[in-house]
Amino acid sequence: MTNVPQDIRQRVETLRSTLEDHNHFYYVLDDPRIPDAEYDRMFRELQKLEADYPGLASEQSPTRRVGSSADTSFHSVTHRLPMLSLDNAFSEDELRDFDRRVRERLGVDASVEYVCEPKLDGLAVSLHYEHGLLTRAATRGDGYTGEDITANIRTIPSVPLKLRGSGYPDLVEVRGEVYMPRAGFEKLNARLAEQGEKTFVNPRNAAAGSLRQKKSTVTAKRPLELCAYSMAVTDESVLPETHWDSLQQVREWGFRINPEMRKAEGVESCLEAYSALMLKRDSLPYEIDGIVFKVNRLDFQQALGFVSRAPRWAIAHKFPAQEELTVIEGVEFQVGRTGAVTPVARLKPVFVGGVTVSNATLHNMDEIRRLDAHIGDTVFIRRAGDVIPQVVKVVPDKRPDNAATVEMPEHCPVCGSDIVQIEGEAVARCSGGLYCPAQRKEAIRHYASRKAMDIEGLGDRLIEVLVDEGMVNTVADLYRLTKFQIASLERMGDKSATNLIAAIDRSREPALWRFLYALGIREVGEATAKALASYFGTLEAISGADEDTLQAVPDVGPIVAGHIRSFFDQPHNQETLSELKAAGVSWQEEEVRSIEEAPLNGQTWVLTGTLATLTRDQAKEKLEQLGAKVAGSVSRKTACVVAGESAGSKLAKAEQLGLNVLDEQGLLDLFQEHGLQN
Ligand code: IVH
Repeated sequence: MTNVPQDIRQRVETLRSTLEDHNHFYYVLDDPRIPDAEYDRMFRELQKLEADYPGLASEQSPTRRVGSSADTSFHSVTHRLPMLSLDNAFSEDELRDFDRRVRERLGVDASVEYVCEPKLDGLAVSLHYEHGLLTRAATRGDGYTGEDITANIRTIPSVPLKLRGSGYPDLVEVRGEVYMPRAGFEKLNARLAEQGEKTFVNPRNAAAGSLRQKKSTVTAKRPLELCAYSMAVTDESVLPETHWDSLQQVREWGFRINPEMRKAEGVESCLEAYSALMLKRDSLPYEIDGIVFKVNRLDFQQALGFVSRAPRWAIAHKFPAQEELTVIEGVEFQVGRTGAVTPVARLKPVFVGGVTVSNATLHNMDEIRRLDAHIGDTVFIRRAGDVIPQVVKVVPDKRPDNAATVEMPEHCPVCGSDIVQIEGEAVARCSGGLYCPAQRKEAIRHYASRKAMDIEGLGDRLIEVLVDEGMVNTVADLYRLTKFQIASLERMGDKSATNLIAAIDRSREPALWRFLYALGIREVGEATAKALASYFGTLEAISGADEDTLQAVPDVGPIVAGHIRSFFDQPHNQETLSELKAAGVSWQEEEVRSIEEAPLNGQTWVLTGTLATLTRDQAKEKLEQLGAKVAGSVSRKTACVVAGESAGSKLAKAEQLGLNVLDEQGLLDLFQEHGLQN
């Protein structure tokens, strides 16, 4: 210790206090003042110095917040002052009774001032600070003895390891709630689910589970927060006169206190605070299960004292529950606009989170297996915030003997096409994309879109109307529309009807890749469609190819091949293709050319500036037909840069790197040379 140079010692001190300051700004005040990267640099510098000079180790160092792999002790500790619980008021009348009792006991006629605080849904903890340093953190336990969780608590960034400011008594005890904000909870559950681990039912359980970790390194990765709601000190001379002011004191010592906290004069004002907080409940970033009213004056609190296990000066008023039990009466399968088949639980109606819930999504079969949900099961339903109701847990003990397992149907409940689930995907899908009524609007929208058949004027709203009016059921019906029919629709004049018919007509002879892309086969984007078209040349060849053959095309893997096969295997999709043919749509055949033969095979080209005679998309398409890849930025590997009018930095870079540069005429000549007419 003695051989640590003074300047190093000084630097370590500075880094520690600066890092703790920024922790405070970020986690307590929600007011970050430096970029994360700057924080990380200082953090690493401190870590390095502490590793180089082990004599400087300190439990209060911010580097300790990452936790340690040593087991947390959890040995039991006795609370200096018992950690009591709160009585509940279940109605407005009960709250008025509480207020009357308070005033009677105090012998005051006038109204009493209360502090109204959100009742956070987490776990109560007690923190001891000796000479300003965090020395012990404990759970509530049975109120008299709890468990020592100091190592885990130290990892929570909003817990000060050292009190801020000065003038604090030798021993300070701060109590508060450790909780997990909603966003962190959702993220944690998503991460756990991805890793195939058990998820938490609600943020409260997640907070409890995270604090109970044997290894504080695990706790450190959990998004926990602490909000202080009371304090006790050995030197009572520092105590202010009110609970409110004591929390301001706690805030100055570096703790987060709840920003929703407010004072209320008299019980009616408390009831207003209850209603106001209830309205805000769903928009808060953390869960609360009610409101706590506390007599503000500390001398009044003293005079009122305690009865059995709860103070006479405080009461909780709960909000409606966000979790209830109910029964899964059946499971239905819904088909979404893109064909995803989703199991939905039909529930015995239950009042939860302020509404009656009679169904809840089960997401997919993996989720059903994870929950081990059966029809007939009693389940926990949770509806928090404006989140849709969720089935969070099955109660296995309540499973009836005749409980039925949930099976994915083989055929789409809407159109009867096969339901397929490609290996490696969680979602099952209806494969009748072109035909299925559930997918109709989406299929038509995609078909008409710019990069597909490019039918100008056929927008989302018009598609809505055409389908709802029964005028268009499949894409083939588009070609049977008459000008008269279209003009009869609301907000469609003669001119727009003529234009639309013309646009539809123009789409009758598409390039094969466009048509293929327009079919909306899952995972077949523009590039894959182009690759398939130039590899196979005709739609018949693609539709007849088995999965192995399909995979010979660059970029087509087993999943894409599976989707292509299942699309063409559906009789309904084949019917629609025949109807399109019958309606006069004839997609062009494409010269089959192996990728290796393409003249620009393996080259990357970049387009920049404005071209006068063709659009960027057209130029790109033609270059791709010649085998080139078209990229957005210039690098040493770029084979050629096409520079149109007012080309800027990309051209400059190309020149700097000495790359090939073509102007528009050069590009047109190239296309001509390879038989690509304008
Ligand atoms: S005061 C003697 N204030 O509610 C007073 N408790 O049922 C003790 N809680 O175990 C608690 N928010 O975990 C108080 N603003 C708040 C609170 C709060 C949540 C929890 C706490 C306690 C339980 C009492």
